[in-house]
Amino acid sequence: MKVIQIIDAKDHVGEIVKIGAWVANKRSSGKIAFLQLRDGTAYFQGVVVKSEVPEEVFQLAKNLTQETSVWITGEIREDSRSKFGYEIGIQGIEVVGESHEYPITPKEHGTDFLMDHRHLWLRSSKQHAIMQVRNEIIRATYEFFNQNGFIKIDPPILTGSAPEGTTDLFETNYFDQKAYLSQSGQLYMEAAAMAFGKVFSFGPTFRAEKSKTRRHLIEFWMIEPEMAFMHQEESLEVQEQYVAYLVQNVLDNCDYALDVLGRDKELLKKYTQLPFPRISYDDAIELLQKNGFDDITWGEDFGSPHETFIANSFEQPVFILNYPKAIKPFYMKPHPTRDDVVICADMIAPEGYGEIIGGSERATDYDYLLEQIRAHGLDEEEYSWYLDLRKYGSVPHAGFGLGLERTVTWLSGIEHVREAIPFPRLLNRIYP
Ligand code: 4AD
Ligand code: MG
Repeated sequence: MKVIQIIDAKDHVGEIVKIGAWVANKRSSGKIAFLQLRDGTAYFQGVVVKSEVPEEVFQLAKNLTQETSVWITGEIREDSRSKFGYEIGIQGIEVVGESHEYPITPKEHGTDFLMDHRHLWLRSSKQHAIMQVRNEIIRATYEFFNQNGFIKIDPPILTGSAPEGTTDLFETNYFDQKAYLSQSGQLYMEAAAMAFGKVFSFGPTFRAEKSKTRRHLIEFWMIEPEMAFMHQEESLEVQEQYVAYLVQNVLDNCDYALDVLGRDKELLKKYTQLPFPRISYDDAIELLQKNGFDDITWGEDFGSPHETFIANSFEQPVFILNYPKAIKPFYMKPHPTRDDVVICADMIAPEGYGEIIGGSERATDYDYLLEQIRAHGLDEEEYSWYLDLRKYGSVPHAGFGLGLERTVTWLSGIEHVREAIPFPRLLNRIYP
């Protein structure tokens, strides 16, 4: 007998097949039992009719408890009443592993309880849908960069440098030296761009930020492309094409997951239209001040209410250009005619999801960078390899970092970034 996965049921209508699954839920009466089955690929219904199976099969079905694992045999049928479209008419059941008093029941549980049971919560249909969106974004990311002539380079995770500032580093012992968990692979990606032209990384990054917001994780995954012989304007075009590509692929390949999540697909479609709007930092400050935000002045970084207001003034993700130099990292290219701003942009997602990309053109001048490294209180010894890149054939180059979990949160339309990663590391949580 053929063993299949639920997702492939459509190709086996009328056939008797075998499926390994878990019983997510069950309803039964005297004559019929409905098992909600899941196997990791999808959910569908199994139907056991008392008059059509041996009595012991019906009794077994009636007594199955939530999350028992089973081998099911039966006939695949169309089921026009379910969104999935297919079901299995069960003929035989074999219990593989029993399950007693499964902690997550169909009733409402609080978030803390669910987070404590994250290892089990992942089995729920909502979490399943979110992880499918995540997987699609990962898949489409590799596809986009491979199709556009980038090569993947993996920067180290144990590092000696602090590209994004020294305040939120995780320090660890590296034999008799100090090391830090990477907060960004960017500096290494700049070296890689000088070796390979167009490169991207995709890996975990760590920020010991004492932020407890719906957008902050302690450990998150970042995609960091870096491009040689490229200025900021061209980098912005790559960024908008990349993000529109992610949205389009999620629409094309996660239709069912988006339905489970109740995501508005018409809204998502708007985010595939290029170009995305651009507004300067200066104009964004003015826009806020004109609209009653008296809590922000030129020179300050935006808080999430500010980002949300700016985003709501546009229909698509918006780039905020050229922030004050004083609030950005040391490596950004100085503005050609102003010394108070740098050539950079953050991409702000619509609907209040906040910053999903931070990027910039990089400073290319050796002396300028050395001065910035000193001004930021960084150890110039540790950055001498980075300065070498400006000594041996320095070229204009630009890059950016997209936060995977923020993007998953936005495209899934969920409330909090903690559900966008299988096992979130949060300010007060490293379990499970
Ligand atoms: O803006 P950030 O800090 O930029 C960099 O690290 C640059 N070195 C990137 C580059 O130019 N190569 O981080 C980039 C993105 C943010 O826009 C956000 O999406 C995400 O990473 N991010 C976080 N996501 C979840 N939790 C956090 N604590 C995050 N911090 C940043
Ligand atoms: Mg940023």
